[in-house]
Amino acid sequence: MVISLVNNKGGVGKTTSAQNIGAALHRFAEARVLFIDLDGQASLTRCFGIQESQVGSNNAGTFIARDDVPIEAIVKKTPVGDLLPSSAELNNKEDYIKASPIFPFNLKLRLEKYKSQYDFVIIDCPPTLSAMTRIALVACDMYMVPLQAEFLSYEGLRNFLNYSKEIQLISPQTQLGGVFATRYNPRINKKLSNDLIEATKQQLGDKFFTSYIRDNISVSEAQASGTDIFNYAPESNGAKDYYQLTREILSSFKK
Ligand SMILES: Nc1ncnc2c1ncn2[C@@H]1O[C@H](COP(=O)(O)OP(=O)(O)O)[C@@H](O)[C@H]1O
Ligand SMILES: [Mg+2]
Repeated sequence: MVISLVNNKGGVGKTTSAQNIGAALHRFAEARVLFIDLDGQASLTRCFGIQESQVGSNNAGTFIARDDVPIEAIVKKTPVGDLLPSSAELNNKEDYIKASPIFPFNLKLRLEKYKSQYDFVIIDCPPTLSAMTRIALVACDMYMVPLQAEFLSYEGLRNFLNYSKEIQLISPQTQLGGVFATRYNPRINKKLSNDLIEATKQQLGDKFFTSYIRDNISVSEAQASGTDIFNYAPESNGAKDYYQLTREILSSFKK
């Protein structure tokens, strides 16, 4: 199962959710996980304590662009799975990937050979509707959309969902897995957040997960320490919320 974390807004929790959902799948469901960092800002890579200098051009872009480079040559090991890392150099690969005759199927085709080695492939996307986001949408079975309750604009979400739905025309297996709220802080604008969450729920029905992620300082501290929330603070609200959300995601696949 290939899952992409997408939203064309930045700072909504894509990277954090990619890391911690993947970590939960590994830690609690014993899943073999491959993480793919498709953001040139390399946040997910840093969240695993890996510096860009350790990656250089051995990044996910090279894996995608070069058929002759085996995954083992690029992958970095983490305690919760393998990582195809990113570095600023990834941005240099984007034009090349886009110019390829197989665009936007590049990543999908590259993963074919390796998919059976993993139970889950988790793709972290950049905060744009760029070539990298397109190849991630085409490569995935499910895309998950995190959103930050206070800054949620309907218009924005609806436009994004229309965009990603169109991907189905060229990639029929690509489905909306679900939308979930992150960085929920009841002290800030509780009414606004709740109203937006309610209205979004009405729009999306069971595609809106009932689990949500609270604002929790341990979540960002874990990243600064280069590890996931379950390792850093297993009793924190962040750990509880990501555990709950991952369970809900897993049970949504069984429906
Ligand atoms: N639940 C949370 N509680 C506190 N801080 C969070 C939480 N989720 C994300 N953050 C912080 O918010 C920032 C943006 O999150 P990130 O996952 O990088 O968003 P995106 O990938 O969508 O740009 C990061 O600094 C991250 O540590
Ligand atoms: Mg990110």
